[in-house]
Amino acid sequence: MPKIQNRFEVVANRKLCPRFYCLSLRAPSIRAKVLPGQFVHIRVTEGLEPFFRRPFSVYRAKSTVDVFYEPIGPGTRLLSQKRPGDELDVLGPLGNSFNPPPKGTKQVVMIAGGIGIAPFLILSDRLKNKGCEMILLYGGRTKAHVYPMKEFKQNGVKAFVSTDDGSVGVKGRVSELFKKISLDPKTTMLYTCGPHAMMHAVQRFAREKGLRCEASCEEVMACALGACLGCSIRTTKGFKTVCYDGPVFDIQEVIF
Ligand SMILES: Cc1cc2nc3c(=O)[nH]c(=O)nc-3n(C[C@H](O)[C@H](O)[C@H](O)COP(=O)(O)OP(=O)(O)OC[C@H]3O[C@@H](n4cnc5c(N)ncnc54)[C@H](O)[C@@H]3O)c2cc1C
Ligand code: FES
Repeated sequence: MPKIQNRFEVVANRKLCPRFYCLSLRAPSIRAKVLPGQFVHIRVTEGLEPFFRRPFSVYRAKSTVDVFYEPIGPGTRLLSQKRPGDELDVLGPLGNSFNPPPKGTKQVVMIAGGIGIAPFLILSDRLKNKGCEMILLYGGRTKAHVYPMKEFKQNGVKAFVSTDDGSVGVKGRVSELFKKISLDPKTTMLYTCGPHAMMHAVQRFAREKGLRCEASCEEVMACALGACLGCSIRTTKGFKTVCYDGPVFDIQEVIF
């Protein structure tokens, strides 16, 4: 599929909770094409620093293309300073996408850690009214990493939260929430995104219970077009690039 590269207007850049922002872009050409799990590669400055674009999952593609992000370094901090009317150079949509749940699936479970929640709102938008129960198991570090998730709830998603310090939801890791879901491998499909340690735990859980699971992986990226091989990860089928072969993989293929 041909990639779009263009300058798009910032419509909004809102702080959703102490740690996370949501940036909305007027990008109709990307909005029309993007699939859940795909990402955009954003040039966050007109200057030379940072030199490389930064990759962000598409969080939602309704009237605007939204990305959900945490300012953690120079690129994301610059992004947090963008105001409505500013323009950003965006390349996308990039990468593969989540596969729809197989026929017969009754329960879709999204397991997210921190900013790993980003690809799941668009997934729930597309699966809404498709006859599956949708569950989100979300693990954040503290209360500052948890926001009301109103849009997920409007899509009918049942959300369960854990925090490392117990400031909201269940105290402990997101694996504390695994007991909230049905374990029937014929009717349950898992999708996950988050830190490697969390996804490794999800991989073990899915393997033990025989559950199907797709993982959206993240690596530091340069070209995001499969050319530099900088984002390669080890899989059971050899090295694969997260930007071109992924970011979505069958979780049992990934060597964490
Ligand atoms: C496919 C994909 C989708 C992504 N989606 C989102 C998203 O929706 N929202 C969001 O906030 N972030 C997302 N990221 C991560 C985001 O791209 C990085 O956080 C961002 O590039 C950081 O840029 P920076 O200049 O602010 O910080 P940097 O200075 O570049 O990085 C800050 C720190 O984070 C580490 N880091 C940077 N990128 C990654 C990464 N991908 N994985 C692990 N550690 C990393 C660096 O090594 C450094 O220690 C995604 C990454 C990929 C590959
Ligand atoms: S970032 Fe260049 S191959 Fe993936």
